[in-house]
Amino acid sequence: MKLWEGRFDAPTAGDADAFNESLSFDKKLYRADITASVAHAAMLGRCGILQADESDVIQKGLLEILADIEAGALAVEGAEDIHSFVEGELVARIGQVGKKLHTARSRNDQVATDMRLYARASIDKVIGLIKALVEVLVKRAKESVKYIMPGFTHLRKAQPINCAQYFNAYSEMFLRDLDRFSALRRRMNVMPLGSAALAGTSYPIDREITKTLLDFDEISQNSLDAVSDRDFVAEYLFCAALTMAHLSRLCEDTILYTSEEFGYWEIPDAYSTGSSIMPQKKNPDIPELVRGKTGRVYGHLMGILTVIKGIPLAYNKDLQEDKEGFFDAETALCNSLSIYAAMLERITLNVNAMYKAAGMGYSTATDVADYLAKRGVPFRDAHAVTGKLVRYCIEQGKSLPALSLEEFRAVSPVFGADILQTVTTRASAEGRACVGGSSVGAARAGIASIKKRLKQY
Ligand code: ARG
Repeated sequence: MKLWEGRFDAPTAGDADAFNESLSFDKKLYRADITASVAHAAMLGRCGILQADESDVIQKGLLEILADIEAGALAVEGAEDIHSFVEGELVARIGQVGKKLHTARSRNDQVATDMRLYARASIDKVIGLIKALVEVLVKRAKESVKYIMPGFTHLRKAQPINCAQYFNAYSEMFLRDLDRFSALRRRMNVMPLGSAALAGTSYPIDREITKTLLDFDEISQNSLDAVSDRDFVAEYLFCAALTMAHLSRLCEDTILYTSEEFGYWEIPDAYSTGSSIMPQKKNPDIPELVRGKTGRVYGHLMGILTVIKGIPLAYNKDLQEDKEGFFDAETALCNSLSIYAAMLERITLNVNAMYKAAGMGYSTATDVADYLAKRGVPFRDAHAVTGKLVRYCIEQGKSLPALSLEEFRAVSPVFGADILQTVTTRASAEGRACVGGSSVGAARAGIASIKKRLKQY
C-alpha cells in the first residue's frame, strides 16, 4: 500500500520504488520514530484531537511494535521507509484507528524529529567514548610523568619532552571535541514536530506537551525552516571529522613510534596483525585503519554540505540523503574511538629507547643558547655561538652533553661549569616549568587540569 495512492491511477514502477525507498537504511531510526509517534499520539489525546481511548490504543500498539523489534520478533522490511513501516504495522495490529496517528503531522516534520532524536542519542554515546579515551590518556600520562621522550618539529628531534606532556596534548584536543559535541547537543535540542509538511497545522495541537515528553529544550520557531533544517547533521559531521583528525594524528604517531626505526612503543600482539607473505612482519593495521577511516568521515561532511546547498525552501527529497553518511560516520567514529582506547591501554612504552632518543640530535642546543642569553649574551648571538658548537660536535662525532668545559669555553668565555648540568636531557625537560611545559611539575599540573575539566562531561 502506498501512503499517497488516492491521487494515483497507476502503481509506482519497481525500479522507481527501489530508487525511492529508504527503509534499508532509515530502519535505524525505528526507536526514534516510535518514541516520537507515542508522544504525538499522547498530545493528540490530551488536546482532544483524538479520543482518549483512541490515543491509548495507538500508544499501546506502538510500544508493542517497539518491543517486538527490539526482541527481534518483528523484521523491519517491506515498506518505503521507517515511517510507513511503523504506520502500516500499527494499522495491521489495531485496525482503522491506527490511521488517525498521522493527524496534524507530516513525514517531513516526523523525519526531522526522528533524526534529531537519533543524533542527540548518538552525541551522548560519542561523548562517553571520547571521555573514556581521555581517561586512558590520563592513565598513561600519570604512569609516565617521569619518562622523557623526544619532542619533534618537522619530524626532526627538537627538544626533550615529558612523556605525560605528550599524552596531555591529545587530551587537550579531545577535551575540545567534548566541548564541541556538547555545545552542539544544546544547540540542536530543538523540536520540529508540529511543523507538519511545511506551513504548520490548523489543528489545535500543543507542542509544549510533545516537547516535554521528548525531552527537547525548545520548539522550532519557523515551520518552513524546521522541516528542512539539517544544520545539526552538518555540525555533527564536522565535530566527527575534527575528532577523527585528532585520532588520526595520534594514530600516525603510533605507527611511527612503533616502527623499528623509532622503537619507542610496542603494540601488543592482540592488537597487531601479520603479513600473509612476510613471516617476520607485525603490522599496525588498527591505527592505519583509523587514519584511513578519517577520509570517509571528511567525505560525508562534504556530502551533506553539498546536499543542502541548493535546495529551495522547504522540504525536498534530497534531504533523505542526510542519513547514510551520518550513520556511516557515526559507526567509523565510535568504532575508532573505542578500539584506539582499548589498544592504547595495552601499548608498552620502551622507556630507555625514548630517553636515549631524546638526548640525540643535539636536542639540548636551545638550552645552551638560553644559558648564554640568561647571562647577558643577546639571544641572536647566543644562537650563533651554539650553532658553532653544534657544528663542532658534528665534526667531532660528539654529543652536546659529552663536551668538556674547555670545549664549551673555546667558543664562548661566558660558559661556566654549570653548563655541564644544563645540557643534559633531563635538565632540559625539567627546565621548562612554565604552564603546559615539559617539567614533571608542569605535566602533573596538566593532568590535574585535564581531570578537572573532564568531570564536566
Ligand atoms: N524518507 C524521507 C526522508 O528521509 C521521509 C520524508 C518523506 N517526505 C516526503 N515528502 N516524501 O526524508
